[in-house]
Amino acid sequence: MEKKDLLYEGKAKILYLTEDTNLLIQQFKDDLSAFNGTKKGNFKDKGKISNAIATYLFEYLENYHVPTHFVKQLGDTEMLVKRLEMIPVEVVVRNIATATLAKTYNIEEGKVLDYPIIEYYLKDDNLGDPMINEHHAYAMGFATPEEMRLISRVASKVNAIFKSFFARRGLSIVDFKLEFGKHGRDLVIGDEITPDTCRIWDKKTGKKMDKDRFRYDMGGVDKVYQELLDRIVSTAV
Ligand SMILES: Nc1ncnc2c1ncn2[C@@H]1O[C@H](COP(=O)(O)OP(=O)(O)O)[C@@H](O)[C@H]1O
Ligand SMILES: [Mg+2]
Repeated sequence: MEKKDLLYEGKAKILYLTEDTNLLIQQFKDDLSAFNGTKKGNFKDKGKISNAIATYLFEYLENYHVPTHFVKQLGDTEMLVKRLEMIPVEVVVRNIATATLAKTYNIEEGKVLDYPIIEYYLKDDNLGDPMINEHHAYAMGFATPEEMRLISRVASKVNAIFKSFFARRGLSIVDFKLEFGKHGRDLVIGDEITPDTCRIWDKKTGKKMDKDRFRYDMGGVDKVYQELLDRIVSTAV
């Protein structure tokens, strides 16, 4: 499948049209950003590592009958995906309190929540991705009530799958963000699932294995992305 015109260039990825109007090529860049794009950086092989992690996780979810846009891996930094009409809602699932949640509700950072929390944010950089609830989503036409119900079911299922997947690798899935889109009548997970969009901690040491190392200048972001990939694909679990 060959790349045609550039469709969209975002902060971490580029989408290209292909000869098939139903399919896009998603290319992962070496760039990373945080705080709504105000902090920018990059490191060598980031695109390659992110593509490998997203490929592994999308294939894993497909095995559990979770529909995603993933079709197949192409080059080192590219995957073939279904073209979606994106729902402009970022879906966040949290298992452990961190960051804004911990601050807002004055909970200890790292507290394991009694139940997972699903949060929704309107994906709009100009507005700073404001938090919304499902009523906002259908009142303002971002998604139908049926779509929001399905989104919350799929997000909970992904969380259950990820909790045991990462636990077997000695890791905690602290929180993660999903984006959904429509492909014809199907509602599927799009975008990426990578350490840019998840918080993952080592269970024993608490070491942060994700983009927080870049956000908070903790150093070693390149090393932890590689280590995370190695542990994800490790078959000795
Ligand atoms: N399968 C898809 N079809 C169409 N758009 C997609 C698909 N998967 C992801 N997207 C969108 O493409 C963009 C991916 O690039 P990214 O660098 O993440 O951009 P952004 O800076 O907007 O988050 C996102 O806006 C995402 O919503
Ligand atoms: Mg993005």
